[in-house]
Amino acid sequence: MMVEQVKADYPVEVVRSIPALRHRLALLKQDGERIALVPTMGNLHAGHLSLVTAANRQASCTIVSIFVNPLQFSPDEDFSTYPRTLDEDISKLALNKQSSPNRILVFAPAVDEIYPAGEQQATFVEVPGLSARLEGRSRPGFFRGVATVVNKLFNIVQPDMAFFGEKDYQQLLVIRQMVQDLALPVEICSVPTIREADGLAMSSRNHYLTEAERSKSSQLYQALQAARDLVLEGVTFADAETRATRQLTAQGFEVDYLRIREPHLLRHPQVSEPSLIILAAARLGKTRLIDNLLFAQKRNH
Ligand code: PAF
Repeated sequence: MMVEQVKADYPVEVVRSIPALRHRLALLKQDGERIALVPTMGNLHAGHLSLVTAANRQASCTIVSIFVNPLQFSPDEDFSTYPRTLDEDISKLALNKQSSPNRILVFAPAVDEIYPAGEQQATFVEVPGLSARLEGRSRPGFFRGVATVVNKLFNIVQPDMAFFGEKDYQQLLVIRQMVQDLALPVEICSVPTIREADGLAMSSRNHYLTEAERSKSSQLYQALQAARDLVLEGVTFADAETRATRQLTAQGFEVDYLRIREPHLLRHPQVSEPSLIILAAARLGKTRLIDNLLFAQKRNH
């Protein structure tokens, strides 16, 4: 079976079909390679590349999946306009590869390769509880779409480990829960958020920001830091949330949520919780940004 190559001069192999990938992986596994999976929707930036770098450190072969997953977009979201930049992504991975001797393989399937039954697909993965909170409440069906595609990618690749960014913190928790509940033999590794110089968390959706919005956008991270500082000064969680939300609203953000939670199941925290996470989603113009800040609570009172 041939491994499909998008461009012969790229040193990164690109595979489009599940049988071709399985064939390639069987040979690699026979050779004793340790396989890491980095699931992405493409339009790669430094945040994704940090996942690839972390994967390369622990595995001898990294599979980067590039698949804009329709199942995790609701009809009013940006599935059709989501940036698809496969050639640039491959070039970035090829450049990244120069700093590592590891094998990198891109799995870039078409939608009907992953969902051949289309609308008739009958099996989905749901992680209730966690999925219903915060991001899940604002985007019904989102985590079902994520859990289903990630589970399917795990079944296709059967990696030893998989890498996810902490920027999508709730997604990371949902995946960890799914792996635990279904006894999936994959180690889940998380990688810290990569930020622009002004603090904005890197995201493919940052491209949607106008110049004026881009210069305001780092206020989201500043609001998280302000809320954290208020909590550390002894302000109640509710007041800290309200004040940080007001700060963002005054800057022109439409705040979807800004909440302080315990970091395991994202439930309301006890006052004495040793560590906390502040999670926020806010719209600036047409762009929906999310971010979070995890911190240890050292209360002096
Ligand atoms: O974080 C993402 O890019 C996506 O949600 C993921 C994990 C690749 C699933 O489509």
